[in-house]
Amino acid sequence: MSAGSLSFARAAQILRPPADGLPNLRGPLVEQQSLAPGGLSVHGGLIAALHPDPDSGLVVDASDCALVPGLIDCHTHLPFAGWRANEYDQKVRGVPYEEISRSGGGIAASARALAQAPDEAVLGQAAGLAREMLAAGTTTFECKSGYGLSRAGELRALALAAALGEAVDQSTTSTGLLAHSVPEGYTADGWMDEVEAMLPEVLGLGSVSALDIFVESIAFSNRELRRMGELAAGAGLALRCHVEQFATHRSVPVALSVGARSVDHLAQIHPDDIGPVGEAQCATVLLPGAEFLGAESRAPARALLEAGAILVLATDANPGTSPVFSLPLVIGLAVRLYGLSPREALAAVTLNAAWTLGLEHDRGSIEVGKRADLVLLDAPAEHVAYRFGRNPVAATFIAGEPVFVRDDQAWRLTRR
Ligand code: NIG
Ligand code: FE
Repeated sequence: MSAGSLSFARAAQILRPPADGLPNLRGPLVEQQSLAPGGLSVHGGLIAALHPDPDSGLVVDASDCALVPGLIDCHTHLPFAGWRANEYDQKVRGVPYEEISRSGGGIAASARALAQAPDEAVLGQAAGLAREMLAAGTTTFECKSGYGLSRAGELRALALAAALGEAVDQSTTSTGLLAHSVPEGYTADGWMDEVEAMLPEVLGLGSVSALDIFVESIAFSNRELRRMGELAAGAGLALRCHVEQFATHRSVPVALSVGARSVDHLAQIHPDDIGPVGEAQCATVLLPGAEFLGAESRAPARALLEAGAILVLATDANPGTSPVFSLPLVIGLAVRLYGLSPREALAAVTLNAAWTLGLEHDRGSIEVGKRADLVLLDAPAEHVAYRFGRNPVAATFIAGEPVFVRDDQAWRLTRR
């Protein structure tokens, strides 16, 4: 027996990439992922071998199960304060998001709630949601600021994101969504001056790996997108961006010209921009929760895949457009709305999501030497989308430790 070791035996399916060392999966590589039966062993928190080790300290009977990499949610707005159920009520009766936003709802409403909430309340709510995400298989997630809407507010939001990362089982990343809505009293340009001025303090936190901006008629324009890209490049941070969500602004070519790591939403992407983003080193992050709940347009996922895009799916977890925290649910939506195959959907929440966060070197796929972040599904991988709305997660492991085990699945784990 060896302490700290873990072994899976008799899995019906293990999701493996077509080759080791691939940074992401695009083009024909996606369907070349294998879902073959097998086992796996873990030592020291890392995947050690692609066969079981009967001498492991913890042995998992994975019969009839699929073993997949820990799911990675690369686009969330955690941590935030409170909820906006009243807006959903308006939205389902046909009031557009822009109208809700212009009448004091939307991002401004969550900014007020955040400003009024004590740190402990914000962290308590977010930690509860992170536990729900663990039970749905999420082992890594991104946090964003964006509800601060002032220099002090954004710095506090980023500090809260870092504190959340310390408090939860998952590992997290922090993105400075420093241009989410134009704060009262500023022009868009004037706020970008403020963003530039606060950047040294943002970097000083030591936790922020990306900057983000929302380009929309109610938020910022391509001009500020370009400037945010230049600021990110100068600071050595990745650029993420919320673009083409409600209307077409031709933001994608601008994002590509400043080296964006990802373009997110894309429900309204211009057809001429699909080819270039399909060839670029830039992920296309689709958010079907926001599209479905907001009756938004549908991102052209199939055309993006055919153009060779690095396709990613995420929850967009936030109190407004997508109060959704389950990646299995997002897979179910994406498979139905976009016509994705099981392998396309799985790549989009594992290796491609890891690449979006710059974490593909140590997670996102089942390879010897990568961190043993794993999800045991109680059914074949094809069932995740098919049995829509059901949580298929039997157990979640982070760095080889079981961090969630569903009660009716506990019999699978034997300690020695
Ligand atoms: O990704 N589009 C901008 N930001 C969020 C929504 C934020 C909110 O409504 O609170 C999004 O959908
Ligand atoms: Fe978002």
